[in-house]
Amino acid sequence: MNLVVYPEKRQIGQAAAMMFAAQLLKNPRSVLGFATGSSPLPVYESLTALYDQGLLDFSKAVSFNLDEYVGLDRDHPASYHAFMQQNLFSKINLPQENIHIPSGTESDVEQSAKAYDASIAACGGIDLQILGIGNNGHIAFNEPCDCFPDGTHKVQLSESTIAANARFFDSADQVPRFAVSMGIGSIMRARQIILIATGKAKAEAVLGMVKGDITPRCPASILQLHPCVTVFADPDAAALL
Ligand code: F6R
Repeated sequence: MNLVVYPEKRQIGQAAAMMFAAQLLKNPRSVLGFATGSSPLPVYESLTALYDQGLLDFSKAVSFNLDEYVGLDRDHPASYHAFMQQNLFSKINLPQENIHIPSGTESDVEQSAKAYDASIAACGGIDLQILGIGNNGHIAFNEPCDCFPDGTHKVQLSESTIAANARFFDSADQVPRFAVSMGIGSIMRARQIILIATGKAKAEAVLGMVKGDITPRCPASILQLHPCVTVFADPDAAALL
């Protein structure tokens, strides 16, 4: 695990965007894994800037997102579909038909989760996956539990995640209690991973991820076993290392 600490979120965004740029320049047909939440926003801003400068072409790339809330229509302003449109997809030339985000409104969640994993496999797997980390050590919506789930699945969100994500809703009551999330196996099969951690609230989780025992009680700790992970942190998130 490669750990890089930068004082500013802007620098983290630029450095991580450089890794996406290198991947896309090496292979314009790259399969990119995207995340939502505050952590990747500076990366999406830098990717948009590189695209605006004519340096990046997403027209042949394919993307897969980590997760979506169960019960939120894709047009709901707090859905991850809406988040990605607003913060990245409306600003670059990634074709809509190449974009994949788990659906939170399928009647048969299990079936659509299997189909999602099959689509990832059919595209040859994810080349570069970006992750945030939950205050409780979750990656995607794989919450602390007794095992590492493999594929995409329905999860019950923990109280800590509901509280942390309430800022995207009018109140905590409105945060959906369930989500569809890529599993730990899906994430670990990505050939390269970038994880972004910023702010004091992430310090315990970052400590567990980097130096703790590998345990599903801190899901991000499994990344110690991945051969190609770069963690970008700010000094607050790296404070306990
Ligand atoms: C989002 C996701 C989550 C977030 C995590 C951190 O798609 O999968 O794991 O990355 O909850 O969220 P922020 O970045 O908002 O602190």
